[in-house]
Amino acid sequence: MSRPIERHVFVVLGATGDLATRKLLPALYHLATSHGLDTVVLGAGTRDLGDQEFRRRSREALAAAGYEGEEAAAWCAHRLHYAPLPADGDYRSFAARLGEVEAQHSLPGNRVLYLALPPQAFPAAISGLGAAGLSHSPGWARLVVEKPFGSDLATARDLNHLAHRHFAEDQVYRIDHYLGKETVQNLLVFRFANPLFEASWNRDRIARVEITVAEDAGVGTRGRYYDGAGAVRDMLQSHLTQVLTLIAMEAPVSMAADAVRAEKVKVLHGVRPLDPAEVVLGQYQAGPVNGEALPAYRDLEGVAPDSATPTFVAATLHIDNWRWQGVPFHLRTGKALPRRLTEVTVVFRPAPVCLYHGRPDQCVGHSDVLRLNLQPDEGFRLEIEVKEPGVTSRLRTVPLSFAYADAFGEVPDAYETLLLDVVEGDQTLFVRADEVEESWSLYQPLLGAALPVHPYAAGSWGPAAACALLGEARRWSVGG
Ligand code: BG6
Repeated sequence: MSRPIERHVFVVLGATGDLATRKLLPALYHLATSHGLDTVVLGAGTRDLGDQEFRRRSREALAAAGYEGEEAAAWCAHRLHYAPLPADGDYRSFAARLGEVEAQHSLPGNRVLYLALPPQAFPAAISGLGAAGLSHSPGWARLVVEKPFGSDLATARDLNHLAHRHFAEDQVYRIDHYLGKETVQNLLVFRFANPLFEASWNRDRIARVEITVAEDAGVGTRGRYYDGAGAVRDMLQSHLTQVLTLIAMEAPVSMAADAVRAEKVKVLHGVRPLDPAEVVLGQYQAGPVNGEALPAYRDLEGVAPDSATPTFVAATLHIDNWRWQGVPFHLRTGKALPRRLTEVTVVFRPAPVCLYHGRPDQCVGHSDVLRLNLQPDEGFRLEIEVKEPGVTSRLRTVPLSFAYADAFGEVPDAYETLLLDVVEGDQTLFVRADEVEESWSLYQPLLGAALPVHPYAAGSWGPAAACALLGEARRWSVGG
């Protein structure tokens, strides 16, 4: 539920980092120019910069995002400030500088405190902000924490305790940028605004669900971070699990943040403990992806030469509740796959008696398939059977489809949606404390386990063993 946007200062800790320059500043600028977002940015970081140098860098960042010219330069000149963060963790001088910026712009003391920092810097930053009294302000104070929130159940719990020592839960916004994607938000609209589909959304009609997040890019220059994380922490625990909850949740009593998040948590409660036999891990070897030679994961800078970190994971999850009992959810994500694609595939049960394919009692033919394409060609496609014209009884599968690009043109960047929600005080698209702990506990058994990590060639669809998870279906609906 959106509320009026109040004037505020948007503090970015880690303001010269990759996330801030590539995503946050362009998103704030675009919101300012297209939605009238009245924001003043106070960048903060360990670098000893002045306002002028920060503005110069920010102009470059905006130009790289396609925003050049006088309007962008004026926005930087009038709206951006910078304050170095003391290395000793004592943020009192920083708090004083924040007060000066607010006074200069006559702001009422509403503050977004955005941690665009490496995860290991979260605890010190939260403590520093809290100890300097920044969790309380004349207006509101909202803490935004990027993913990954913890690296396992214990660290996520510790981080929640620390955050709650200084901030109330309704002040904490845990980011999972997938929730800001239009197509991910649309999953709930698709389900709950279209009773036609909702009536079939259960074990009686659905045979299995596949969630694929495929990336053609490799790990690139992020080896140092990634080798300590891997596909389970980096993608499965967060993005894929978020999509799973939206696909599987019950209808909330309203679209209020806690009503929606409570239903998502219930899904996680219902997931049966993972069976390691239903998990396949892989790591990419050298190979061509889209005509470009990609080096093996182990040859990347920052990666141990004998690393066993998975860059691919496929897992089958079972939700033990009335709606989903017996319906497998196959989740799969990997780097260096043949193409970038995020898709939810819902495979419906075949007709009980087969009037068109083979013998009536051996109905192995067609199943209707619904493909919810979350990116990059956003839209959906329902694959159904029609009769081929002419003197024939042959059937053909045809799509009923919808493409965002045709209907709406460009879809907004996920960060714009999320930043706007933070300043409006809407937590619906942010992960709640119990939710993040519940999703870590789901994957905890995999984190320390010595599971085999199958090599796969870059440019392939991952280890062949991943197909075995599908049982009789044998092939993934995307990529085989
Ligand atoms: C990030 C992961 O959270 O999501 C990256 O850390 C991954 O490894 C990225 O590449 C994928 O996001 P998107 O929006 O490109 O699908």
